[in-house]
Amino acid sequence: MSSSGMANSQAKPLAKRPPSKILVDGGDPQETTRIRELLGFVDGQTTNPSLIAKNPEVKRLVESGQRLTETEEAAEYRKIVQAISPLVGEAGVSIEVFADLNTTPEEMLKQGMEMNSWIPNAYIKYPCTAEGLKAAQRSVAEGLRVNITLCFSQAQAAAVFAATKGSKAPVYVSPFVGRLDDIGQNGMDLIRNIKRMFAGSDRHVLILAASLRNLQHLLGSFAMGADLVTVPGKVLEEWANNGMPIPDESFQYTPVGSEIPYEQLDLHQPWEHFNIEHALTKKGIQKFVADYESTISKAQ
Ligand code: E4P
Repeated sequence: MSSSGMANSQAKPLAKRPPSKILVDGGDPQETTRIRELLGFVDGQTTNPSLIAKNPEVKRLVESGQRLTETEEAAEYRKIVQAISPLVGEAGVSIEVFADLNTTPEEMLKQGMEMNSWIPNAYIKYPCTAEGLKAAQRSVAEGLRVNITLCFSQAQAAAVFAATKGSKAPVYVSPFVGRLDDIGQNGMDLIRNIKRMFAGSDRHVLILAASLRNLQHLLGSFAMGADLVTVPGKVLEEWANNGMPIPDESFQYTPVGSEIPYEQLDLHQPWEHFNIEHALTKKGIQKFVADYESTISKAQ
């Protein structure tokens, strides 16, 4: 080993770390390796059914006409996260359960337990619905790490907080910035509002800014103090090519769409008291189901 101690490491030594942990938002271990070499580190990874459907090996199987059964699809997913797992740091690898609008909490929990056994650093992703929160509540009681995805409102984040109280491991909540921008609301406001709501809390829930589509989203998330950010490889490449900038106090995020106002919510309420309905959560589940099924049915 060299005197720098880096001889066996494929990652570059770190110059400076951004204020948020950086996760790669993708489903391809080769991309994660590339980004790790580029940045010198990767703290974690998030995956979802749409990203797994885009994995080069999964695409090759589907395009070659090979029928993927649900078991084979799960085996591919396992292979992918097992390849990614050793490449990332302490923020772990988020693995999403396959859930449609009728999936019960018991079915989600069963999948979550199975997925949790795939790698030592799994975070199980459940949708921000009543069923997903019930599964998450039981998961944290079993000692699983969870990431509640498809979060589009402050009330949903409050419900995540209330449902996961007592979790030994940090719980992630994933507010989806880009998809709120898509409907004309300023998605970054949701990050700011949740951050404000959690200030002074026991901090068992960490904010994982998701659905980030560009450099402004990334810099805005840093500036707002998101605990973690999950970012597509191409945006991380752009960030690296710009010298990995970290915004200072003078940074101004240019709002996209109308303001999302802050709501006064009491985090001590039971989670069932919060209105967790959101049209984009349902739409997101339907899109994940469609992308998941495309990897199975296309090959028939
Ligand atoms: C990550 O956890 C999310 O699934 C992902 O960021 C969604 O991004 P998108 O809205 O660009 O699909």
